[in-house]
Amino acid sequence: MSYIKTHKKHCIVRVVRSVTLFFTFVVWSLGVTFFSQAQASDTCAIASAHPDATAAGCKILQNGGNAFDAAIAVTAALGVVEPYSSGLGGGGFYLLHFAESEKNVFIDAREMAPGLASESLYLDELGKAVPQRSREGPLAAAIPGIPAALQHLSKHYSKLSLAETLRPAIKLAHDGFAVDPRFVRAVGWVEKRLRKFAGAESVFFNAGEAFELGQILKQPQLAETLTELAKDNDSFYHGKLAREMVNFVSAAGGNWTLSDLERYEVKEREPVVINFNEARIITAPLPSSGGLVMAQIFHILDEFSYYTQSSSTQTHLVVEAMRRGYNDRARFMGDPDYANAPVHLLSSVAYARKRAKSIDINHATDSLSLPTVFDLSLEGEETTHFSIVDDDGNRVAATLSINGPFGSGMVAGDTGILLNNHMDDFSIGIGQGNAYQLVGNRANGIEAHKRPLSSMSPTFVESDRGILAIGSPGGSRIISMVVLSVLEYLDPGEFSSEAVVSLPRYHHQYLPDRVQIEPDSFDNDWVAELKQRGHNVQVYRRKWGNMQAVYCPKSEQICEVLNDPRGREGVVF
Ligand code: DON
Repeated sequence: MSYIKTHKKHCIVRVVRSVTLFFTFVVWSLGVTFFSQAQASDTCAIASAHPDATAAGCKILQNGGNAFDAAIAVTAALGVVEPYSSGLGGGGFYLLHFAESEKNVFIDAREMAPGLASESLYLDELGKAVPQRSREGPLAAAIPGIPAALQHLSKHYSKLSLAETLRPAIKLAHDGFAVDPRFVRAVGWVEKRLRKFAGAESVFFNAGEAFELGQILKQPQLAETLTELAKDNDSFYHGKLAREMVNFVSAAGGNWTLSDLERYEVKEREPVVINFNEARIITAPLPSSGGLVMAQIFHILDEFSYYTQSSSTQTHLVVEAMRRGYNDRARFMGDPDYANAPVHLLSSVAYARKRAKSIDINHATDSLSLPTVFDLSLEGEETTHFSIVDDDGNRVAATLSINGPFGSGMVAGDTGILLNNHMDDFSIGIGQGNAYQLVGNRANGIEAHKRPLSSMSPTFVESDRGILAIGSPGGSRIISMVVLSVLEYLDPGEFSSEAVVSLPRYHHQYLPDRVQIEPDSFDNDWVAELKQRGHNVQVYRRKWGNMQAVYCPKSEQICEVLNDPRGREGVVF
């Protein structure tokens, strides 16, 4: 691929998995190689968006926990230190690999719509959606799935008790953490929303003032709530916490009931498995659109023997494959317990072959010439991903979210729980777009207890090269990001693990019909070649994503932790 090499700060920590080698590791930073004494958080194969969360997971591994115990610890800690991204009031997906049985399982902890939700919930008298209602305040929040996911992981897969795995997060909430640039930026984005709701203002502001870098943010109420969850008494869905949340949401004008919480359930689903270029890509099934969109993209690229093509043809083909994959996202996809998407068809090679026939190798397709959809759905701005591999080879890739930065902006009563705004991921109103301008239809329409369609795509790649656990936040762009990274990873040519997370990103999602590219990332020739084929190329206002991957090369007892340079250590946060 021809693009401008960035010289931003990038750091890869080589993590030694074998116990005998545990005390040697190498850090590459800004091209300088040096050796250092191993630290707790540097000796385990965990990539997350925040060092305190990574440290929480490492501690659990060191205490004898497995990857699933560590996933509980990292999830809970991220909810404390990245409250704008994920938390107990949100949902997420966990892709698990069990080393012993070599099986993979997908844990669907996506939020569910309250029982009183209906298609007309966000429409005004003229039938037009009022986006603010699904993005902010009491009607925006769906019933959270993360607490159920923690219970599920603990009950079925972990070695330690919840009391042990939640301890680091309880400590972080109780003692506080140092506010970083990402926190300050996220508060800046939604300051008005947070100040509207007294609970949120008292937690996320420092006596009414915005927190400054390095100041300590404590969340004693959240610490208490986590302590309650650590007792494993199901208070969140059936007890005191449930009552407190329902009372709060009702008083604020929302529509949650106790029975909504009681009927919440985590679902185990079969991951989507894609064979591409002699590798196996294991990824997210519905209600994430990621797996089916990716299946179509990779199968189309295989039709064109992708790696044999010139660089500019490769880019053109990826864009055309994305256009078609996202077109089908809009046409068919929604919660599989409600909408009947043709999963087998969409994931088949035969279908992709047919779709590939409509691609002109020299010219962009007009998106409007593809089959149409009726209405538009909405996406947010923050989320988080982490990847873990333990010494036994168990793996977790998890993408968690409360949707927009700080979700609905509401902290429920005295629970310290920030509620999501994932109702906004449903198709809300006919013909109306949002920040991500994704289109959707009835398959993703609002219904009682339904899960909104997602793009979150925790993924494993198994190939001759080794194992990769990968994923990212980024709304609709999550899928295209994972695709680009996997293509880089599987490139039979020269391989740089660093590039898997740092490579420049471009994105096409069918509608709007444009190729978005990251700023300062692609050279003029690259852009000119795309334009020459008729693509509408637009430079986006900032770089996107915060990919967190663990790469374990096949022949070595060693894994690399790959943090996106756009993340906490980089310039884009
Ligand atoms: O589930 C989804 O696809 C979205 N709610 C995820 C939102 C997201 O990644 C925002 N990130 N920057």
